[in-house]
Amino acid sequence: MIIQNVALGNRGYDIFIGNQIINSITDILHTLNPNQKSVVIITETNVADLYLKMLNDVLIEKGYEIHSLVLPSGESTKSLLFFEQVMRFCLQHNVERNHALIAFGGGVIGDLTGFVASTLRRGCRFIQIPTTLLSQVDSSVGGKTAINSLEGKNLIGTFYQPSAVIIDIQFLKSLSNRVYRSGYAEVIKYGLLGDKQFFDYLRHHNDLFLVRDTHFLMNIIAHCVKMKADIVSRDETEQGERALLNLGHTFGHAYEAETGYSDILHHGEAVAIGMVDAAEFSYRLNYLSLSDVSMVKKFLVEVGFNITIKDYASHISAEIILKHMMQDKKVSNNQMTLILLNNIGHAFINKNTDIQVLSDYLFNKIL
Ligand code: GLY
Repeated sequence: MIIQNVALGNRGYDIFIGNQIINSITDILHTLNPNQKSVVIITETNVADLYLKMLNDVLIEKGYEIHSLVLPSGESTKSLLFFEQVMRFCLQHNVERNHALIAFGGGVIGDLTGFVASTLRRGCRFIQIPTTLLSQVDSSVGGKTAINSLEGKNLIGTFYQPSAVIIDIQFLKSLSNRVYRSGYAEVIKYGLLGDKQFFDYLRHHNDLFLVRDTHFLMNIIAHCVKMKADIVSRDETEQGERALLNLGHTFGHAYEAETGYSDILHHGEAVAIGMVDAAEFSYRLNYLSLSDVSMVKKFLVEVGFNITIKDYASHISAEIILKHMMQDKKVSNNQMTLILLNNIGHAFINKNTDIQVLSDYLFNKIL
């Protein structure tokens, strides 16, 4: 087992990474509060069908009483409606401030449960047990919690750190190829934004990624988590460098918004295209070489990603993408902030991206 720490003083916590380490949950619960006798688990149907019994058995063996709430899977669960349902379930089962809730699932469950934990009795503890590659390398670490509203994605939320994160590789083995690959976009993102050696390591070990090699997964997840933990401990609330973690996301969110955050385009697939955009646009602005752009594209294709939005949705126009990007980001003086690259392994925050130049890029690319 590998343990990484997020150094945030009295809000700091450990992240446990390993294969078949789910049983460490009872030690963690005991350390947090030896008097907690019952546990509320928030999960979703797919995870519940495969793994809830396993988690329950571990807890029952140590004498915990369990109350689990199984929600529908999918992005629409991150809503005010389910926020109320989870909150009331916790209150009905007497979750106290010094109790830990358990978020058992992917990013949707983690974001929703974290948001509930941050407001339940003005804040109770919670433990993340992420079950997708995406949530293991990104959303379970760092304390961003959120739900969506009709007005947009993640508009209601808090920065609220978990008390522990348990990353168990065994859950990755049952993911569909598409969901597994989608999470890999976030892994590649870490290499692109801050570590060329890691990017090259990933490029040269695509075979291990494809066979879901346990040792490989454990190491790359630990590497991403370490990078994220370091960034978050320096910039918890995204006043500066944490924004680098959004590489590819402003373009990507626009594609997701236009495809309705649906199964047409998964988040990681949108991020993969968004990273290509960030690379191409960086080239357009003379920050990145053409050979680096080609290398990024070639690698993403080798992994199995489509790298143009037209492969997912043929109707998409440049106007609409620009409109979504301008909604997502504050625009002032006809300029917006974008994360760009000036090398593979080096992203930077470009605070004054000219909208006209961006628009020219999108029109030339998409039309
Ligand atoms: N997913 C980006 C962040 O946590 O900051």
